[in-house]
Amino acid sequence: MVLILLVLAFGIGSINGVHGEVSSSTLTKISRINKEGPYLGIVVPNSFEMNPLLQSGSFVADQKLPYLDFSGNANPQLQIGDVTIPQYWAHTGLWNWQRYGQGPEDELALESNGDYTRKIGYLKFSDYNNGTNCNNKSSDNLLNNVWYQPEEIFPVNGIPEQRQHAFWIPVNKHYFAIAERLQGLKLGGCVNGTCLPRNPMVVRVQRGVSSNTFVDNSAYREFLNSKFNATAIDMETAAVALICHQQKTPFIAIRALSDLAGGGSAISNEAAIFGSLAAQNSVDVLLNFISLLSS
Ligand SMILES: *[C@@H]1O[C@H](CO)[C@@H](O)[C@H](O)[C@H]1NC(C)=O
Ligand SMILES: *[C@@H]1O[C@H](CO)[C@@H](O)[C@H](O)[C@H]1NC(C)=O
Ligand SMILES: *[C@@H]1O[C@H](CO)[C@@H](O)[C@H](O)[C@H]1NC(C)=O
Ligand SMILES: *[C@@H]1O[C@H](CO)[C@@H](O)[C@H](O)[C@H]1NC(C)=O
Repeated sequence: MVLILLVLAFGIGSINGVHGEVSSSTLTKISRINKEGPYLGIVVPNSFEMNPLLQSGSFVADQKLPYLDFSGNANPQLQIGDVTIPQYWAHTGLWNWQRYGQGPEDELALESNGDYTRKIGYLKFSDYNNGTNCNNKSSDNLLNNVWYQPEEIFPVNGIPEQRQHAFWIPVNKHYFAIAERLQGLKLGGCVNGTCLPRNPMVVRVQRGVSSNTFVDNSAYREFLNSKFNATAIDMETAAVALICHQQKTPFIAIRALSDLAGGGSAISNEAAIFGSLAAQNSVDVLLNFISLLSS
């Protein structure tokens, strides 16, 4: 069960064409490995973040499933190199885009079928007007409103499968409690003699959000922070969270912040200088987390 995430890792080399199919030989390997388990599964999206983990020489197998990476930051109180551990994750990339002329009182397209909802706030584009011709926050914008939608999930125990909706996915309670003990951990704050304004820290935060949008826009980052109280912004964790939720597999996400998404920091070129530090810090936190798990 834990190896759901390894399916991705093992599958990559074996996918033929664009079908996204996991070959039967790969599936055979996975089930053979699974027989030796259960395992600790670690998801790392790219080599930049994987290298410090491999170089740490500290791989420890366990029965649980942490998740490691680094992400953009939506909380101006935090800085690059800080490591966040959110309690909830949501996928914020599923939208219902409302037609021009309609508003919060109007039902969305297909809402009456139970497909869409107006429960999870909305993004009103005219709130972000900037310029001489429409220097009025309430003036109309043809892009109108976007409403955030929960994901549809089919829990593995549903027989027959019944569609459910999920937006905020909590990390495992036990893992989150253990993560409290990571606060105060000493992390690196300098790269080649250039130091961050304060030493990075580990913080448990309320929420992180993911979507297939690279957020390099400060207005949208501030929106995500004010609407959802999101601190970490990334492109991966919600996928892991939703699968773990569906499979009833415990997970936690450890995200070192890579930048203040969309700029706004006093440190110029911060991701280029401190990106490697962020990756190293997330590995340090992960390794400490694993040792707490097994202690
Ligand atoms: C937005 O408006 C502010 C002044 O209110 C101005 O300084 C800024 O240049 C404007 N930005 C754009 C992209 O028009
Ligand atoms: C802003 O726009 C709204 C509607 O488009 C209008 O009712 C209001 O008078 C405008 N306010 C200003 C200060 O121009
Ligand atoms: C730090 O300095 C070393 C040696 O000059 C260099 O190879 C490395 O790329 C530098 N690291 C960063 C993150 O700038
Ligand atoms: C928002 O998140 C912060 C940091 O994670 C937390 O301290 C705060 O209580 C949250 N705010 C609300 C209204 O839940």
